[in-house]
This record gives sequence, structure tokens and C-alpha cells, in this order.
Amino acid sequence: MTNLQKRRIAMLTSGGDAPGLNAVIRAVTKAAIGAYGCTVLGIEDGYEGCITRGYRELTFDDVRGILPRGGTILGASNRCNPFWFANRAGGETEPRDHSTDVQKWLHDLEIDALIVIGGDGSMAVASELHLLGVPIVGVPKTIDNDIRGTQVTFGFDTAVTTVVDALDKLHTTAESHHRVMIVEVMGRTAGWIALYAGLAGGADVILLPEIPFDLDEVRRKIERRAAEGRSFTIVVVAEGAKPIGGTEIYETIGSQPYERRYGGMGQWVLEQLGSRMEQEVRLVVLGHLQRGGSPSSRDRLLGTMFGAAAVRMVANGQTGQMVAMESEAGGPDRPSFVAVPLAVAGAGARLVPLNHPAIAAAQDLHICLGEPGRLKTEPATA
Ligand code: F6P
Repeated sequence: MTNLQKRRIAMLTSGGDAPGLNAVIRAVTKAAIGAYGCTVLGIEDGYEGCITRGYRELTFDDVRGILPRGGTILGASNRCNPFWFANRAGGETEPRDHSTDVQKWLHDLEIDALIVIGGDGSMAVASELHLLGVPIVGVPKTIDNDIRGTQVTFGFDTAVTTVVDALDKLHTTAESHHRVMIVEVMGRTAGWIALYAGLAGGADVILLPEIPFDLDEVRRKIERRAAEGRSFTIVVVAEGAKPIGGTEIYETIGSQPYERRYGGMGQWVLEQLGSRMEQEVRLVVLGHLQRGGSPSSRDRLLGTMFGAAAVRMVANGQTGQMVAMESEAGGPDRPSFVAVPLAVAGAGARLVPLNHPAIAAAQDLHICLGEPGRLKTEPATA
């Protein structure tokens, strides 16, 4: 017995792409058709497709061979909010509220539910649409790993792997040239990518949005390393990091918190450190490389489990919720999936808690997190 009255499910991929999106699309399609006999509709280019009315039916053939592919076969739109959007393809020059039209269009498609695969901004929009009567189930996607209600999002593992790979390569060239190498990574207001990749990639300094940094502490760390014969230093800077008493660096695209384009903090740190030190300082901004490429096996697995769980939630009538991974306490092979209200998932970014074990590990290993005064208490060999 299921709540699938019409046996029709629609899905869209919203926001910035993340490795593993195609794994979710494949899992939703295969589970919905194979286990429940549904028709699956793929809406093109995220929420924008709900306004421009672009969609196509997805069959087994459409999802064959897409598991290892990065990106999304459905296309995505970043920062399209149906409540305030200018449909330029439709000749609109000014934004307006399209939500009632979207609700009506989805109603006319006669779907049991719309599966929205997106980040916190997309979940916030999904929550509003759900209040208008659109039955929605969310799937948490982002390389930033910053969605509330879930311990992990798919895309994060691949992004961290990409950054670690870059750090491994930068180590050898930094060492050869006795340079300070700054690496700016994505993550918006959350430091998950910087912290996890910095730890896994052996960074000496990791600057997170959650811990405003003291630049003098960073300089002292580099100088101490040089004095002890280690003439290179790897500094990972989260794009949303900020100095004590300073501000984040971003461009404003719209009024919502997710409508900010971060970038530039690496350059700021480069200029500040470069003007205060003898040693040569260079910058690498990894940018969208972190979003591209084939998903890791972990992200394929997560995407597959999230997608299948989302279809089960639709069948159980659990709309207005996002599928989430509650805890990895039992290990990655024993995740427990739960349903979290869309309103909770869309209520803002999930930041790294300051009591997180990865922060404790960084401190125990005397990795500089930019906190003032910490270096004084560390042994000289750190
Ligand atoms: O949310 C994912 C993300 O890659 C962030 O880490 C980054 O700040 C942002 O998207 C970049 O967005 P865009 O591709 O629109 O520049």
C-alpha cells in the first residue's frame, strides 16, 4: 500500500552542481519506475524549468551510464527563486512572483510529489512552495556540507578529495621553491571543505569562517616553521573566512543570504602576508574545480541511497520533508536515514561546531587556525 495515487513523480536539480547529482537522478528514476511503476518527469534547469515549463520524461535508457558522470543531466540554475525571478527567456525584464503559476503548473502535471535536489537555499524555497500546496520531498546536495538536519550531503566527499589532491601537488612545488602557498577553497559561510581537506592534505594553517583569524598569528607560524628549517608553508583559506575585526569578502547578487558570490579572501591574505614577510607568497584559487569531475564512490553511494529513500518517502506520503543522514556513529556502512522538515533544512547554513573533533585534532596537531595567542603555548617543534 502506498500513497502514490497518480504514480507520477517529478524531480529537479537546483543550485550549484555537485558530484553525485546524476547518481540521485538515476536512483530516483530506477526506484520510482522499477519498484513503484511510476512515470518520472525530469524538470530542466532547476526551479527555472518550473517557470519556463521545461521538462521531459525519464526512462531507464535516459539514466543508463550516468552514475560516474559529474554535473547533472537535467541542468541546474543557481539562485533562481520562483518567488522573485525575472524570466528573461519569456521577455521579462523585472523580477516578479511566479509561485502561484509554478504551483498551478505542477498541479496540472498531476504528480504525487516533486523531488527537489538542492542546497539550503533550494530547501527554503521548497518549504515555501510546500506551504502553497506543492507536495515536495528534498534531497540534500552541496559540496559545502552545510545543510541543517543532515550530518552529510553528497558532493562534499568528492570536493574534499579534489582539494586534497591539489594540496598534495602544491606541497612538492612549495617545498622546492621555499614558498608560502595559499589555497582558497569554496564553502560559503561554512568551513567544512577547508577543515576536512586541510587536515587530510596536511595543511599547516587552516582559516575557517567559524574562527576569525589573527594574521599576525599566521605570520608567526610561517616564520617559526622557517626558523626550524621548514621553508615552505601550506595555508588553506576558506572563501568565507574573515580576519578578527574584519569582514568576509563577497559580491551581492540578491537579497537572500545564499545570493552572495564569495571569493577574494585568499588574495587578501596574500597581499597582507606578502607585504609583511620576506618569504615569497603565492595563491591558488581552486574555484569550480571543486564542483566538477566524477563523483567519488562515497558520493555515488550516498546519492543512490538518498534518491531511493526520497522515492520511499513519496510513497509513504512524507512530503514537506527532506531525507537526511542522522548520524554516522555506526560508521559509513551503517547510516541511518531520517526525514527532516524542509523548513529546518532551509533555515540557514550548518556551520562547523567549535567542539567538532576535527577542530580538536587540528589544535592537537598544532595546525594554526588563526586563533590569537595559541602559538605562544605550543612547543617549538610544532
Ligand atoms: O554552494 C556551492 C558553491 O560551490 C559554494 O561553495 C560557492 O561559494 C558557490 O557555490 C559558487 O556559486 P557560483 O557557481 O554561482 O559562483
